[in-house]
Amino acid sequence: MKSTIDNTVEFVKEKLEGAEAGHDWFHIERVWKLSKKIAETENCNKDVVELSALLHDIADPKFHNGDETIAPKISREFLTNQNVSDEIIDQVLFVIENISFKNRDQAPADPPIELQIVQDADRIDAIGAIGIARTFNFGGFKNNPMYDPATQPDLKMSKEQYKKSNGTTINHFYEKLLLLKSLMNTAHGKKMAEERHNYMLNFLDQFYKEWNVD
Ligand code: ADP
Ligand code: NI
Repeated sequence: MKSTIDNTVEFVKEKLEGAEAGHDWFHIERVWKLSKKIAETENCNKDVVELSALLHDIADPKFHNGDETIAPKISREFLTNQNVSDEIIDQVLFVIENISFKNRDQAPADPPIELQIVQDADRIDAIGAIGIARTFNFGGFKNNPMYDPATQPDLKMSKEQYKKSNGTTINHFYEKLLLLKSLMNTAHGKKMAEERHNYMLNFLDQFYKEWNVD
């Protein structure tokens, strides 16, 4: 499997050439490493974990007009050419089709451990210092305002209220980043999320303090 993993690394690096910094090869590399770390603490198929981590953002629907069918198609074709067994391919595809935070309402009832691991890794890379950097990078990429005190979001808002206050990068913390800690699947994931979550709370305190020139 070693050479298949190496080939997958090369394939993904090439595919993500020129990607926005929050979803580039370095994001994949961090999620791959985090996945391997969590996998050491769980009873799982490590090949499925590694291949899923490497392929999970190969064609992010956000950058492909919302089309969610491209990534599974590209991944299946690539893995078939690598002579990976159908059984492993099906498991990898299941992970990449179900990993998204956005589609969490349609999450499978009894998710396989490999999905739980890679999902935790992807979510851990969305929080903490790296999470903050990725979020501001994405907001900048979209030319969104950083913050608007007139539409201050908080964690108690309804989905409709979020929509109204939408569009600022600070809003994304309340809409997603601060919710991730309690959505972690694995014990190791929960532990890592805790530290990063507190770091974001400190960041927001400091951000408001500096914004208001207190
Ligand atoms: P998922 O694919 O799990 O639904 P996304 O790909 O939407 O998650 O988000 C990945 C990362 O991209 C987020 O953690 C964040 O850093 C950044 N991001 C996505 N949407 C926004 C946004 N509206 N404002 C700022 N950053 C965003
Ligand atoms: Ni990702």
